[in-house]
Amino acid sequence: MHVLVTGCAGFIGSSLCERLLADGHAVTGVDCFTPYYGRPIKEGNLAAFRTHPRFTFRELDLSADPLADAVAPAEVVFHLAAYPGLMKSWTDFDLYSRHNLTATHRLLEAVKGRATLKKFVYASTSSVYGKYASGDESLPTRAGSPYGVTKLAGEQLARVYLDEFAVPTVVLRYFSVYGPRQRPDMGYHLFIRSVLAGTPIPLTGDGLQVRGNTYIGDCVEATQRAGFGAMPGEVFNLGGGELTTIIDVIRRIERLTGKTAVVERKPDRKGDQVATAADVTKLYRHLGWKPTTGLDEGLTAQIAWQRETKQ
Ligand SMILES: NC(=O)c1ccc[n+]([C@@H]2O[C@H](COP(=O)([O-])OP(=O)(O)OC[C@H]3O[C@@H](n4cnc5c(N)ncnc54)[C@H](O)[C@@H]3O)[C@@H](O)[C@H]2O)c1
Repeated sequence: MHVLVTGCAGFIGSSLCERLLADGHAVTGVDCFTPYYGRPIKEGNLAAFRTHPRFTFRELDLSADPLADAVAPAEVVFHLAAYPGLMKSWTDFDLYSRHNLTATHRLLEAVKGRATLKKFVYASTSSVYGKYASGDESLPTRAGSPYGVTKLAGEQLARVYLDEFAVPTVVLRYFSVYGPRQRPDMGYHLFIRSVLAGTPIPLTGDGLQVRGNTYIGDCVEATQRAGFGAMPGEVFNLGGGELTTIIDVIRRIERLTGKTAVVERKPDRKGDQVATAADVTKLYRHLGWKPTTGLDEGLTAQIAWQRETKQ
């Protein structure tokens, strides 16, 4: 099949592209290298498959550039491009509004009415639930940050384009994803980098925040299953199976690296989640998916990648 992956140079997008190419699909990847983190890191993500004969890269900004050519051949769209992270969204709302909302709207407009399009997967987030993101898809959405609000509005746009124009949209709510290529601003990445370098880990909150994070391989498996198998209109939680606390993750990293962590307590951050634990029963019922990677296994892979790439 011909698929389009937006955000193809990012953490999850690049991992998804590699998987889709390995499965034999023709992949068009779109990215505009937003400066949320360094372009060299994103170029490094892309390098793994940029010259693959079935891969076409388009450097396009979804919020501004013409999209008709890029979307034309797509039978399945995986829309992962976004401006991520909670903290910056408090101070630069226009940026989030542009990359998460305007970009999504323009992409939906570009695919509207295309008879060849079979599925449009929108990558959403547990942040749409807010501070307590534990449960199934019936939890009320109470986004706790401007980032979460823009992602939730993107979900609503996807629904509107399904209702009014039959764009076959599916929503996946990712619960923090980790593993090789994880963004450099994300918790596990910061913890591992600090432990390997012997520098203090900035710990916000009391460390007892509950997390049910998702290994990248499991996330990619569920995402591609949704792209080829989910019913349009469905919303799914996509999270890892093993619940833990932040402090337990740090202890595991100590054990797996053989190094001691130096923890430096920092004040709570506005909008931080207290608990995230996805009930993924629905994803199993619809698509037979369950997370299969344990936390020690996933952390071991991420530690090896950070050691190798010196990130
Ligand atoms: N990483 C996680 O744990 C996590 C959790 C919940 C939801 N998500 C969602 O998953 C998706 C991917 O996240 P990620 O962690 O891989 O982020 P990422 O920042 O690594 O990747 C996103 C990519 O999108 C690109 N992009 C942003 N705006 C664009 C635009 N207007 N036009 C073209 N490209 C654009 C960026 O340059 C970047 O390469 C996002 O939609 C994010 O909201 C991620």
